Amino acid sequence: MDIRLEPGKPGEVDADALVTVGFEDAPPPSFAQEPTPTAEQTKELYDSGEFSGKPFEVAILHRPGGLKAKRLVLAGGGKREKFDPAELRKLTGAVVRTLKSKGIHTIALALDEAFRSDDFVASAVEGAVLADVENDRYKTDPKKNEKQIAWFAVLGGSKAAVERGRILAEAQNFSRDLANEPANVLTPTLLAERAAQMASEFGLECEVLDQDRMRQLGMGALLGVAQGSAEPPALIVIRYKPAKAPESKDHLGLVGKGVTFDTGGISIKPSEGMEKMRYDMSGGAAVLGAMRAIAQIKPAIPVTALVPAVENMPGSKAQRPGDIVKSLSGKTVEVLNTDAEGRLILIDALTYAQRLGCTHLVDAATLTGAIVVALGSVNIGAFTNNEAFLNKLLAAAKREGEKTWPMPMDEEYKELLKSSFADLHNIGGRSGGSITAAWFIRDFVDETPWIHLDIAGTAWLDDAKPYMAKGPTGVGLRTFVRLAETW
Ligand code: BES
Ligand code: ZN
Ligand code: MN
Repeated sequence: MDIRLEPGKPGEVDADALVTVGFEDAPPPSFAQEPTPTAEQTKELYDSGEFSGKPFEVAILHRPGGLKAKRLVLAGGGKREKFDPAELRKLTGAVVRTLKSKGIHTIALALDEAFRSDDFVASAVEGAVLADVENDRYKTDPKKNEKQIAWFAVLGGSKAAVERGRILAEAQNFSRDLANEPANVLTPTLLAERAAQMASEFGLECEVLDQDRMRQLGMGALLGVAQGSAEPPALIVIRYKPAKAPESKDHLGLVGKGVTFDTGGISIKPSEGMEKMRYDMSGGAAVLGAMRAIAQIKPAIPVTALVPAVENMPGSKAQRPGDIVKSLSGKTVEVLNTDAEGRLILIDALTYAQRLGCTHLVDAATLTGAIVVALGSVNIGAFTNNEAFLNKLLAAAKREGEKTWPMPMDEEYKELLKSSFADLHNIGGRSGGSITAAWFIRDFVDETPWIHLDIAGTAWLDDAKPYMAKGPTGVGLRTFVRLAETW
């Protein structure tokens, strides 16, 4: 899909569909209000109740009078005062998916003067680009690509905003595509190859630590998880350095869980729904996608991404419940449950991130089923050892429309991780599972400002949304980029 910026003359744009937002509580869009045949037609649509402006509602007028476009599409924006960039992102996506399914090829979006700020315009472009993904790579139906959008244009708005929207959404689609790959295709080795390829394409440094190197360093927690699989692990490190040497020492580290498949290991998962565990590298994918965007947006702060990539399998060499491993930090962990593997690979990656000079850490992981119970598929769960840092991230998340909810981290929860035989064990019992998981990780970051994002509930859509296909969402990426950008 080609993304364009057109001068804001709705009447003159030659598109298959000219889209405009109609609200529940405001008269039809301004340009259709002039006494033209189109204005009468849109009024008729409202009066007859065929279009009422409810969210995602779509009405299509053919050969609209006085307009060059073949169709005028009214898209429901809901209540006007509640309409924000996040709503526009979803609405644009819903319209693109509806029109695409009807075989419409060229779309122009006319926004009211009030909605042409950079955040609105970038969001509109993001919605369109995100909506274009179908996750049908493995379908062999030769007709599947017949319905394609040739171009999507925004009328009015700044060039920089259109460009930003395109960069962010293309990066998010890159992440979604990685997370959608089945685990027989996307092994830790292939994930590392894709990351290296992306890095070279966008001028980033990339280094991949192999199993031998990890052994030399002493990453016993990560290696313990990897040892049950025939696929070797990889620790992917990608670096972005700003062109101008920064004034402060701040250095952002983004760490993403990269479990290419999670069977649970010897503490094996029930078979029902296990197929979804190919998305257990969504945190890693979000971090890699963020670097793809950061390379183009060029924030002032250095950013290093780390993705520990492993497959959690119950092979003959798999670690057992009761095994004690020594992490890179030197602390020992009693592995009571091999299915709590994410935290084991994250702690070694986080320790390594600190050695590489990262002063602020954010990790993203599909870490616990418990966060799905607590927050459902609506909010990311956020945990921190530094409220000020979390507030910064929450502001970035809000601006990007990625709902994120702060979770409690009282000291009492930490008690549940005390081990009789090692420094700590890797599970805290059934209750408060997301919080004890976060406390486990926190034990390895010491005083370094750190945020943990549990994206287990938000990284995957079990059902398609009007604006997005079923499958990976790429959640977290836009927040990371905004955080780096607004540092
Ligand atoms: N990848 C899973 C988390 C997960 C579970 C995501 C279900 C989505 C749905 C993680 O590695 C895991 O297995 N966590 C366990 C931890 C438990 C053994 C303490 C869980 O949440 O059940
Ligand atoms: Zn997992
Ligand atoms: Mn697991």
